[in-house]
Amino acid sequence: MAMALRFLRPLRGVRAFAAQPIKCKAAVARGVNDLRVEEVTVAPPGPREVRLKVHSNALCHTDIYTLSGQDPEGLFPSILGHEAGTEVESVGEGVVGDCIFCFPPRGKRTNLCPKIRGTQGSGVMPDGTSRFTDSSGAEIKHFMGCSTFSEYTVVADISCAKVSDTAPLDVCSLLGCGVSTGLGAAWNTLNVEGGSSVAVFGLGAVGLSVIQGAAMRGAARIFAVDTNPKKFVMAKELGATDCVNPKDYDKPIQQVLVGMTKWGVDYTFDCTGNTEVMRAALESAHRGWGESCVIGVAAAGKEISTRPFQLVTGRKWTGTAFGGFKGRSEVPPLIDAYESGRLKLDHYITHRFKGVEGNLQAVEALHSGECLRAVVTY
Ligand code: APR
Ligand code: ZN
Repeated sequence: MAMALRFLRPLRGVRAFAAQPIKCKAAVARGVNDLRVEEVTVAPPGPREVRLKVHSNALCHTDIYTLSGQDPEGLFPSILGHEAGTEVESVGEGVVGDCIFCFPPRGKRTNLCPKIRGTQGSGVMPDGTSRFTDSSGAEIKHFMGCSTFSEYTVVADISCAKVSDTAPLDVCSLLGCGVSTGLGAAWNTLNVEGGSSVAVFGLGAVGLSVIQGAAMRGAARIFAVDTNPKKFVMAKELGATDCVNPKDYDKPIQQVLVGMTKWGVDYTFDCTGNTEVMRAALESAHRGWGESCVIGVAAAGKEISTRPFQLVTGRKWTGTAFGGFKGRSEVPPLIDAYESGRLKLDHYITHRFKGVEGNLQAVEALHSGECLRAVVTY
């Protein structure tokens, strides 16, 4: 899951064009598992860029994946963080309110916008340079076009989604990646319908949000699968009807699920990033029409496999990035749904920390296995 998306309240007291560099604190990833709080300088926003004051950051596994050196494309030194609630501090020239480059060409629908993808992956702004420098004046790379482990950051204007004036920015941070991805996988990618059966493999924030999304659609039977039985408590609260621990069986979990149903499950979701689990999810899908969605991010170099017969007999294998949501237009309504009580989100915040240094504690918390999302407020 990788989505450059910031949530911001409508512009308030915003300074334009003549902004000065800002010195502030940031948690800088200096190298593998080397996260240090430092003073950094954040340059003013360039054309079509926005400088943001970051209020809340929710730590995601993709940040840890990069910090731990597992991502072969990871860059150091860099400022990680990509799920955040922010306010606009200043804007550069020509900042527009709406995305000017928009799919779909030829009527096909996708949320994958290539406009700034190349430079974003290289840790720089669209003009090829960074807005961050350290105390010696050396450049620090951006991350996923966001870099929200910093009190201030600069992002492309099209990476921002405007939310209501009253939106709580800690809750907004949840919707920057994982939780939106799970909800959207159920609603947009597989379009789960009322009365159907669903199996969710992996009950972190992503898997639990798939369960929540499926339950809100009225799925009749929801299998929650995890090797950690502690995860079943919240899965049930969110609507899971059957909790299954693969460790309790001496046969493959796909055989267990097919046995618990007649011919398999209508919709299945991998929310672990484990390619063996992706296979199990596909092979748990209903013969003739079952659909399986890959959500988890697999380790570098991993490949998926199954016998072609699984597809010949009518199963479909697909995947999702950010749940198919177009961030700028389709995620702010989720905040509206939260504010009006139609969408519950508070349960994803299991840990809270304060200050940029809180990101170090958040990393510890996410490793503990007890954490869904650790939100750090600056
Ligand atoms: N079978 C079932 N469940 C498993 C298995 C397995 N073989 N292996 C791990 N799990 C469970 C873990 O016990 C955990 O509850 O999967 C869950 C994963 O949850 P988190 O680690 O909290 O991850 P989450 O934030 O939900 O993200 C899900 O998306 O971005 C990726 O790297 C991320 O792969 C991860 C996935
Ligand atoms: Zn993420």
